[in-house]
Amino acid sequence: PTPYFDEWRKQGPAPVEAPDGNQVWMISRFDDVVQALNHPGLSSAIIPGGMMNHTDPPEHTHLRKPVARAFSTRRMEALRPRIQQITDELLDAWDTEDEVDVISTFAYPLPITVICELLGVPERDRDEVRGLTAELLTMETMVEAYGRFALYVQNLLATKEPGDDVITELRDEPNLVQTLVLLITAGHETTVQLIGNGLLALLRDPVMKQRLLDDPLLIPDAVEELLRYDPPLAEGVSRTATTDVVIGGVTIPRSSQVTVSLGAANRDPSRFPDPDVLQLGRDPHVTFGHGIHYCLGARLARIEGEIAFGTLLRRFPELVLAAEPEWRVSFIRGLASFRVRPKL
Ligand code: HEM
Repeated sequence: PTPYFDEWRKQGPAPVEAPDGNQVWMISRFDDVVQALNHPGLSSAIIPGGMMNHTDPPEHTHLRKPVARAFSTRRMEALRPRIQQITDELLDAWDTEDEVDVISTFAYPLPITVICELLGVPERDRDEVRGLTAELLTMETMVEAYGRFALYVQNLLATKEPGDDVITELRDEPNLVQTLVLLITAGHETTVQLIGNGLLALLRDPVMKQRLLDDPLLIPDAVEELLRYDPPLAEGVSRTATTDVVIGGVTIPRSSQVTVSLGAANRDPSRFPDPDVLQLGRDPHVTFGHGIHYCLGARLARIEGEIAFGTLLRRFPELVLAAEPEWRVSFIRGLASFRVRPKL
């Protein structure tokens, strides 16, 4: 991914100039990243607004608990048959000798359909929700898009019939609007990149692809490795030092902005020997973060990844790249378009 990762890790914790000209402290070695994500002096509360990923304890603890309960492993595992069905339906359109675009025909529709059904967002709203998410994740439109997204969710809460879904389960929780905006955006935009970036890495490694074709039981392990290799939040997550904080022996002064680079940590050769090649059976990565903010959707994303890659390989063993894919410009690392040929 970025050529800076190696530079950053060589330096250890150090200030760098961000694209907007401000100074941020970059944390990039694996051990430092884990230490930083566990450090109570590095606050997540950068933007007021009460989305749980931007709160600290004790508020964070209260906001997270009911959502964690709603996203239980048991509930996620029970989604498998439905995720398989959505996957199969989408991939029916791949039964063609022509090229297809992975992002628009599969990587987007799968996770957004899953998260909307799980939460209880009506099918007719899906395009609107996808548009709002895209605007919310674009620097220039972010603030205005948040207002419109919140309005959309308020309206949904006021008009929606109760059902067997997460919105109904959480309806009496505080900060529900913010939580739902977070779940809708985090619940699909990142998983798109797991499917897109992951499939690209796999198609570029025919030996690994063949191993998985020969032994589909390796797929869960392969999903872990694809998550490590090209994480959606590669640049990392942001924190603010509320006091002087020592990470990896270096003092980061109070009030500093800090970026914890998950992508750089995932390529740290001291933890992942030969980090730039795909290899099964490695130690755990930090693609889903670490500590109290550890991703609440990790189980769901892994299940979606297993079903997506498992089904793609089973149905289209001859799948190959049709053109050099194009990366888009966004703080979530992903592809704008990605053309493949499902059949030779
Ligand atoms: C938090 C990554 C999928 C919901 C996080 C964090 C990371 C992450 C790195 C920690 C942020 C921090 O420490 O500041 C990913 C990746 C995904 C993914 C790479 C897919 C491959 C999902 C899905 C959902 C979800 C499917 C929801 C259904 C959340 C929530 C948080 C979170 C609610 C905030 C947790 C907290 O602050 O306590 N995610 N995520 N994520 N993720 Fe995910």
